[in-house]
Amino acid sequence: MPDVTITVKDNGPYLVHGGASILDADGNEFDVKDQKTIALCRCGSSGTQPFCNGTHRQIGFESEVRASEE
Ligand code: FES
Repeated sequence: MPDVTITVKDNGPYLVHGGASILDADGNEFDVKDQKTIALCRCGSSGTQPFCNGTHRQIGFESEVRASEE
């Protein structure tokens, strides 16, 4: 079982570390097996969903969440 960590970046994507499989709604796998870190879009504006393509910077996406917040 891989040890997967997901980091919520300030004003940016989710960074997935640890060799996770990313599947679409039909169960088909995105080809990311050669990537050690995968950036998943959190702002909703990426043109390469579900992956981050940097658009969050252009739109001024702001979200800084902490685990201690409720
Ligand atoms: S979080 Fe980067 S494009 Fe959405």
